Amino acid sequence: MNKTALITGTTSGIGYALCEKFAKEKTDIVLVSRNYEKLISQKDHLQSSYGIRTWIIQQDLELPEAALNVYKELCELKIGIDYLVHNAGFDVSGRFAESDIEKEKAMIQLNTVFITELTKFMLPDMEAQKSGKILFVASVMSYVPCALNAVYSATKAYVLSFSRALGAELKGTGITTTAICPGATRTNFAERSGLQGTPSFRRFVMDPEKVANIGYGCMMKGRIKCTPGIYNKLVVFSSKIFPAAVVDRFTIRMFIKR
Ligand SMILES: NC(=O)c1ccc[n+]([C@@H]2O[C@H](COP(=O)([O-])OP(=O)(O)OC[C@H]3O[C@@H](n4cnc5c(N)ncnc54)[C@H](OP(=O)(O)O)[C@@H]3O)[C@@H](O)[C@H]2O)c1
Repeated sequence: MNKTALITGTTSGIGYALCEKFAKEKTDIVLVSRNYEKLISQKDHLQSSYGIRTWIIQQDLELPEAALNVYKELCELKIGIDYLVHNAGFDVSGRFAESDIEKEKAMIQLNTVFITELTKFMLPDMEAQKSGKILFVASVMSYVPCALNAVYSATKAYVLSFSRALGAELKGTGITTTAICPGATRTNFAERSGLQGTPSFRRFVMDPEKVANIGYGCMMKGRIKCTPGIYNKLVVFSSKIFPAAVVDRFTIRMFIKR
C-alpha cells in the first residue's frame, strides 16, 4: 500500500515541486492550499499522471482556526499520515516601521502558530503508529536575521528551532523532523513578498524542483537540517564566523531595492 503525505501550500513553487516528487515516488497526497480551482486541477493532474490517490483540503492557513479545521477534515477522511510537510508560508518585506502589521500578524500565524498547532494535533497518531516524518520548510534566514525582513526571518528562526528541538524529543520514537533552509528560489514567493528586483533574487536563485528533491531526500534520510546550494551553505557558514555587525551590513544590502 502507498504511504500518504499531507503537504501544505501545494499549488505553486516548492510545494508544487514536492508534490511532483512524492507522486513520482508513489506516495498518496493530501493537498492543502487556499485556491480551490488550482487544487482541483492539481489533484486531477497528479492522479492521471502518476496513478496515486489524492485528497484536497481547501483552507486559508492564516486563520486562527486553520489547524483545527485541517485536522478535523483529515479525521473525516479517515486517512493515516506518514509524512507531514509544512511548506506553506510567505514573507512581508520592507522597513518594519512602515510595513503592514495585519499582514505581519497573518504571516506569524501561518509561519509559526499554524505549523505548531497542526503538528500538535498530528503527533499522537504518529506516536501510536511509531513512525512518521515531518519536513519543515524553513529558510537561510532561519540562521541569519535579515533587515527589511525582520518579522519573516524571526518566524523562520522559530521554524528551525522548533523542528530541531522537537526532533530531539522524538529520538527513538520512529518519528523524525527535518528542516530544509532554502535561499532564493524561483517561485511566486518573491513577487508576493515584494522582493522581486532585490540583489538577493538576482543571482544564485535555485529552481524549486532542485530544492524539493533535496528536501525530500533529507527527510527520507531523517536528516535534522539541510541547506540546499553551495551559495546558501556559504551564507550560513559566514553568518557563524563573521561579527554580527558585518553580517547585518551584508544582509541589508541584499534586500535593498535599487
Ligand atoms: N522562494 C524562496 O525564495 C524561498 C526561500 C526560502 C524559504 N521559502 C519558503 O518556502 C515555502 C514555500 O514558498 P514558495 O517559495 O514555494 O512560495 P509560493 O510559490 O508563493 O508558494 C506558496 C504556497 O503556499 C500557499 N499559501 C500561501 N499562503 C497561504 C494561506 N494563507 N493558506 C493556504 N495556503 C497558502 C500558496 O497557495 P495559495 O496562495 O494558492 O493558497 C502556494 O501554494 C514558504 O514557507 C517560504 O517561506 C521560500
